[in-house]
Parts: sequence; C-alpha cells; structure tokens
Amino acid sequence: MNQTLTNLFPRTARINARNHLAIAGCDVVDLAREFGTPLYIFDDAHLRARAAEIRDAFQSRWQNSLVLYATKAYYSPYIARVFKDAGLGIDVTSEGELEIARRVGLTPDKIYLHGNNKTPAEIHAALAQGVTHIVVDNLDEIELLARLADELRVTPRVLLRLAPAIDPHTHRYLATGIAESKFGLPMQTGIAMEAARRLAHYASRITLVGLHAHIGSQIFDLAPYRDTIAALTDFAAELKSAIGFELQELDLGGGWGVPYVEEQNALAVEDMAETIVSSFKFQIPSSKFKVQGSNLEPRTSNLEPETSNLKLVFEPGRALIASSAVAVYTVGAIKEIRDVRTYIAVDGGMGDNIRPALYGAQYTARVANKMNDAPTMRAAIAGRYCEQGDILINEVALPRVSAGDLIAIPTAGAYQIPMASNYNLIPRPAVIAARDGNARVIRRRETVEDMLRCDVDE
Ligand code: LLP
Repeated sequence: MNQTLTNLFPRTARINARNHLAIAGCDVVDLAREFGTPLYIFDDAHLRARAAEIRDAFQSRWQNSLVLYATKAYYSPYIARVFKDAGLGIDVTSEGELEIARRVGLTPDKIYLHGNNKTPAEIHAALAQGVTHIVVDNLDEIELLARLADELRVTPRVLLRLAPAIDPHTHRYLATGIAESKFGLPMQTGIAMEAARRLAHYASRITLVGLHAHIGSQIFDLAPYRDTIAALTDFAAELKSAIGFELQELDLGGGWGVPYVEEQNALAVEDMAETIVSSFKFQIPSSKFKVQGSNLEPRTSNLEPETSNLKLVFEPGRALIASSAVAVYTVGAIKEIRDVRTYIAVDGGMGDNIRPALYGAQYTARVANKMNDAPTMRAAIAGRYCEQGDILINEVALPRVSAGDLIAIPTAGAYQIPMASNYNLIPRPAVIAARDGNARVIRRRETVEDMLRCDVDE
C-alpha cells in the first residue's frame, strides 16, 4: 500500500525512493544519524511561507495590521531572524525573549511586552531597549510603569489586556479570557475601567492607545473571536464617553487552532482573516467612537482598509510555527502486554514534549524509515522518563516496529522545546533547520556538562 503524507507534515516533506521521510530534500534517516535523536527538524521554507501567508492574509484586508509572533511558542536567534525577515513584530514576556530580539536587531516599536506579573527589571529592560508597547494586565503594574517611564524619560504606549468573559471552548488550562482567568482585567467588575482611569491620571507619562484580549489557545471556532471584537469595541465606546479615550490599536491576541491529528481540521488562514477583519469592520460604528484620523461610516458600511488609521494587531504563536517542525526519536524497548497494549519506547518523551502529559494533547506518528509500509499494529509511544504519564501517543497505527527504527511526530514546532525540562537529568534535544538539501544546527544538543553548570559543589 502506498501511503501518502498527510498535511500535518511540513510542505517540503516527501517519501523518497528509499522509503524514508525526507524534509527539504534531506533524508531524515541520514539526519538522525548525523545529528542524533531526539531531533527537532524545522522546515525553513515552510516556516517562512507560513509567516508570509499569515501576514498577507491580514494586510491585504486591513492595511494597518501588524502580526506579532508570540515568542513563547518557541524563540531562538534563528526563529527571530526568520520572523524579522518576514516583517513580523513579537509579543514577549521575559528578558530572555527581549535579549534575543535585541541580538537580531528587531526594531523595538514592533515589540509588545506582556505578562501577568512583570518584574520591575523586565519593564526596565524593555523601556531601556526602546520597546514602545506595554500590555498592562493588572492595576499594580500601572504605578510601577509610570515610575519607570519617568525615570527613563520615555512615554510608553499602553494597551489594556481585558478578560472579556468569553469561553473559547478549549482545554481549561488554555482558556485565558474567561472571567476567572489569572490573565487580564475583568471587564464586568469595573476593574478594567479603573485601570483606564488610573492610566489617564498618568497621561503625561503613559499613553493609553488600545485594548487587547487573548482569549485562549487551540481555538477552532471563529465565533469567540467575533464576540471578543464586539466586547472590545463596546468597551472602547464606554471608555470614550468616560475618559475621552480614542482607540488607536486593537489587539486580538492569538490562539488559532492547529491540527495535530488527521481528524482535526485546520482553520484556513484566509477564513480566519476574512472573519476577523469583516466583523471588525462591522463593529466600528462612528457613532460609538471615532478612530483617529479616520472617516468611518457606521455599521454595515464596507470599509476600505485605507479609510482607517486604526491598527489591528494579532499575536499568533502556534499557528505560525507548530506545523513547520517534526520531532524524530529512536525506538529502544518494545513491550507487548498481551491483550492490553504494546508500548514502543523512544529516546525522548515528556522532557522534550510535556504537552500530552499536561493537556492530554494528541499527536500522530509515522516510522521515518518505513514510510510506505502498511500499518499492522496499534501501539502506544512511550517516553523514557520515570513517570507513568510519560506517554507521547496513546494509540497509533504503525507498521511492525523494531529497535532502531525512527519515529517521526509532526506538528512539533510549538510549545515543545521551550517547555522542555531536564527531568531525570536528561539533556534537551538538538534542533536543526533544513533547506534545499542542507541542514544546520540551530540549537546544539545539550550535554551533561551543560546541565550541571549551575550546580555549586563546594
Ligand atoms: N498572546 C498572548 C498574550 C498569549 O498569552 C499567548 C499564549 C499567545 C498570544 C499565543 O497563543 P497561541 O496562538 O500560540 O495559541 N503551552 C500551551 C499554550 C500556552 C499559550 C500561552 N499563551 C500549549 O502547549 O498548548
């Protein structure tokens, strides 16, 4: 049986004449031999194409739109350069992420600082680096921000992160816009309004320019986004009458769902952009608030992007990067528990991918050196860590597998390497980028020495 590759694999992935998986013209079996496993392989062309696709989908519909890459999904100098080349900005949450941006020379006006508990050092580092946009998450950081802005003689542009009480229908750990979320200022309780008033008090030091909401992750339904746009624009109107606020930026966060298994359908970028931009146009009634420098007609009008200076901001993380990488593991032990299940143990697991253990995330796999062999067994892919919950995949159909075979798991680009740990003191994997038949290391494999370098032994 000639199996084909599903579109869970990056776009340059092929099955080559040796019946092996190939990415960007590189045979994955050769890559595993050269760089070792577990190995994360990024498809450079896929990553760049995806960034351009998402950027263009929004810019063609709303000229003044800015796509920020949510760096928590995975940031490294290589990734930073790819997204910088594509003209994207970034959403950062730490000094580490800021430092990478600084090293690659990303212009600070495309950096938005986030966080539900930003430290004074982080805010200071961001302002000193020239970062223009701070997304305020709570009342306490307003005074801190005003003090630091004063000290550094800068005038940051601020967005209020709101919790609009919208359920995004996703895993409960990934729902961040609901009323009880630790993120954002709850709109219903008056706290969001209070934050805006406090900011107005510091108007000479801080400029409130916009509203933000990130309602969650792995969202496949567009309705929660429409509701969020309605909630945010309504609140902008309230703020206009309360404190004369002029909305200049609307930031809708990220969260766009990405399929990890064949049964999940991808959200088409074009549909996403069309729905968001058109519901945004629909929600702009000039009677409610006026967009600076614009000449907007009330609802139902068909606005042209040129008619508004209002900036639409988006912060996808996973949707920009998840599908561009494949994780490759080597099979070691195989344990058949008769009438129960067969475990195929690999040389990675929860140390490089915590998502199945943490969220019950689903994945699929192929045998990279037996790509066209027909499936004959159903097995679980178990990790090597000392934890019963360390199961990467509960059940997957595979050809007969033996020790030394290579398991390839697609959709490995987001929230795996950045959430990796050294549990059991096992070094974190190498990451490579492949393009046009060549592969290069973008993160070398950790060594035991690397892991021990912070321990003090007197
Ligand atoms: N903007 C903000 C303010 C965020 O907090 C996040 C993600 C994003 C954008 C990007 O969300 P995305 O488009 O990647 O869904 N570790 C979890 C995901 C946590 C997301 C945290 N915030 C996972 O592995 O599924």
